[in-house]
Amino acid sequence: MRIAVIPGDGIGKEVVPAALPALTALCETFGLPLSYDVLDWGADTWLATGVGLPDGAVERLPRTYDAVLLGALGDPRIPDMAHGREILLGLRRGLDLYVNHRPVVLDSGVIDIYRENTQGLYAGVGGSVTRSGSVTVAIDESVHTRAAVEDFVRYCLRRLRDDGRRKVTLVHKSNAVPNTGRLWQDVFRRELTAFPELTGSEEYVDAFCYHLVRDPSPYEGVLVSSLFGDIISDIGAALMGGLGLAAGASVCPETHFALFEPVHGSAPDIAGKGIANPYATLMCLALMLDHFGHGAPADLLRTCVREAARGATATPDIGGHGTTDLFMDTVLTLLDHHR
Ligand code: NAI
Ligand code: MG
Repeated sequence: MRIAVIPGDGIGKEVVPAALPALTALCETFGLPLSYDVLDWGADTWLATGVGLPDGAVERLPRTYDAVLLGALGDPRIPDMAHGREILLGLRRGLDLYVNHRPVVLDSGVIDIYRENTQGLYAGVGGSVTRSGSVTVAIDESVHTRAAVEDFVRYCLRRLRDDGRRKVTLVHKSNAVPNTGRLWQDVFRRELTAFPELTGSEEYVDAFCYHLVRDPSPYEGVLVSSLFGDIISDIGAALMGGLGLAAGASVCPETHFALFEPVHGSAPDIAGKGIANPYATLMCLALMLDHFGHGAPADLLRTCVREAARGATATPDIGGHGTTDLFMDTVLTLLDHHR
């Protein structure tokens, strides 16, 4: 596991360095080889040099590393988030990380949200007309290719089956957005016939949001396009108990290269106070261990983090009165007990 670590901005620079010792400890205990470099990509570098994603980085990263761990990007000094788009969208698109897995972990079970990461309204196709400095026409096209939807759906169905999931729901809006809806429904229904272990259903995204909030327990796997997936995974984070808890992985199934990042942003309202919750970043590390086939350390990490989160040293966002460091002390102590 050769990891490029990008703490980024705001609380990213707190939770990522705080969480990394847990990975180091696990790799020592389980005898796993680990190396990482910390890259200073983010707002400070952008403001000092104008560089977000360095030239050639997209080609270099997969030659040097197996995965990326990213904290968060976003800084009040860069209101249009230009550096964040360059880095994050540059990596997602440049490395073709088209599968975004955002597990929603609830007492009633886990919902595996799989979100298409590079197409739809996030394809970057569009433009605007400006007159005297104001935008007068704005167009963002939602673009889906059949080939990409097929690759996405097939990979996700295989993952869900291999993980023992039984139900999968396609979330769409084919009544109001019929062309995209038809393409996704057609691909979903055809691909599903190769997976007799999975029972498929389809829901309009608005109805899905309503049902998810009322009772999430029936859902196991969810397949969804980029924008809808972005929104429903924040609802999922709220159901889990807050943005500080939700982790995500963006994967290219063909190269196996992956980027792990918490769902939350740089949280400028609490940055620098030492109270950011490293839970989501720790769960990213668990997803990373899973990704490289190390299920036992991943499960141990999840167990210890959940136990720590129930205690008084948990951070304030989840009801504790601890700090980032205190919470990590508890996690590392628990990991040590389980050696
Ligand atoms: P945010 O996720 O940074 O914060 C939303 C709320 O949740 C805040 O009240 C924050 O304090 C709280 N929160 C988030 N993560 C937390 C944690 N680990 N521990 C404790 N509390 C936590 O979203 P917001 O405020 O909308 O965006 C802030 C900046 O982050 C913006 O510049 C935005 O563009 C960027 N952003 C970046 C993302 C990324 O890098 N993937 C994702 C979402 C937003
Ligand atoms: Mg989001």
